[in-house]
Amino acid sequence: MTHPALANGPIYLDYNATTPVDPAVHEAALPYLTHHFGNPSSAHHYASEPRQALARARRQVADLLAATPEEIIFTAGGSEADTLAIRGAALAAPTPRRQLITLATEHPAVLQACRSLQADGFTTTMLPIDQYGRLDPADLEKAIGPGTALVSIAYGNSETGTLQPIAELAAIARRHGALFHTDAAQAAGKLPIDVAGQGVDLLTVVGHKMYAPKGIGALYLRSGVHLQPIIHGGGQEAGLRSGTENIAFIVALGHAAELARQELPGSAVRLAALRDLLQRELERLLGERVQLNGHPTQRLPGTLNVSIAGVNARKLLAAIPQIAAATGSACHEGLDAPSPVLLAMGMSADRATAALRLSLGRWTSEPQVRRAADLIAGQVTPARGDGALSGA
Ligand SMILES: Cc1ncc(COP(=O)(O)O)c(C=O)c1O
Repeated sequence: MTHPALANGPIYLDYNATTPVDPAVHEAALPYLTHHFGNPSSAHHYASEPRQALARARRQVADLLAATPEEIIFTAGGSEADTLAIRGAALAAPTPRRQLITLATEHPAVLQACRSLQADGFTTTMLPIDQYGRLDPADLEKAIGPGTALVSIAYGNSETGTLQPIAELAAIARRHGALFHTDAAQAAGKLPIDVAGQGVDLLTVVGHKMYAPKGIGALYLRSGVHLQPIIHGGGQEAGLRSGTENIAFIVALGHAAELARQELPGSAVRLAALRDLLQRELERLLGERVQLNGHPTQRLPGTLNVSIAGVNARKLLAAIPQIAAATGSACHEGLDAPSPVLLAMGMSADRATAALRLSLGRWTSEPQVRRAADLIAGQVTPARGDGALSGA
């Protein structure tokens, strides 16, 4: 089964940039564009269905994260959820707490939100990471203190897929009285998440990474955590995100969350198997020129980032229109510079320039994976003195 939007196009291996809307999600949302137009805050007949839909979607998103519905704040996407978490938590922190802690490999929505707080007297500490992009909890322990307001560490990196030891990091933050935020844009719906069990205070969910539309997201906010709103107005979303709710997209996110929850953990196992097959195929065809970027096991199930020695990945992909993939995050795509994420992991500029990010999702199939590996290998020029590689 394929998605109608992918049926006659290139093999889609860029699910980390965005996912097609699942047809079932589209169908669930449509009545809220065509019929159920009411404002959920109204007191009449037309408000009733949208209000119920809002409550249902809140429960569906909560269930995906093992949270309670009251802990879910709908936002207009991931950047807004990150900004609300970071600016909201920092500006609500008691005055002595003026330190933010994060990683250089975070999404720009996190990095820029931290940077924006400089003007409010906050400083940002960037912690070191290892060659896989993982943070050692001992390094957080060294940097954190009574002046820390917030620690923000992504659940899984969007370029390499490297997963962080979230529960351990969250426990350290809590012990020091700081809040812990994780951007789970790439992990929510792809891996089972239990916010309470992991001790997370704030967690970002992004609709368009989990088969809902762009422009919708959510922030999990642990009950009892206080944030300063960043959008002011009529007091919707517990006063933290004013504005009449985007019911159709909220319904879409709720439905997408429900589908993801029903599919897990099987979907993660299936994707990890396809991801590993893609890696093995590339290694079989290109041998030691293929180097894995990111953690070998602690990795998002659908993300494969590999460098092919001696290759300019951007030019390589441009020469294979039969594949839609990326060299880094969509935010950096088009910039002719090696990925800052890979450089922050200590990689040479050559290896970072040779990196392909191949991200798999709901409609990726085994034949597609095998074909993609053949197409990539077929385009790679033989290395000097490497007669075994042909087909450039
Ligand atoms: C890790 C991560 N955080 C945040 C975002 C931003 O989400 P949005 O595009 O909905 O603002 C993205 C999407 O590109 C992402 O990959």
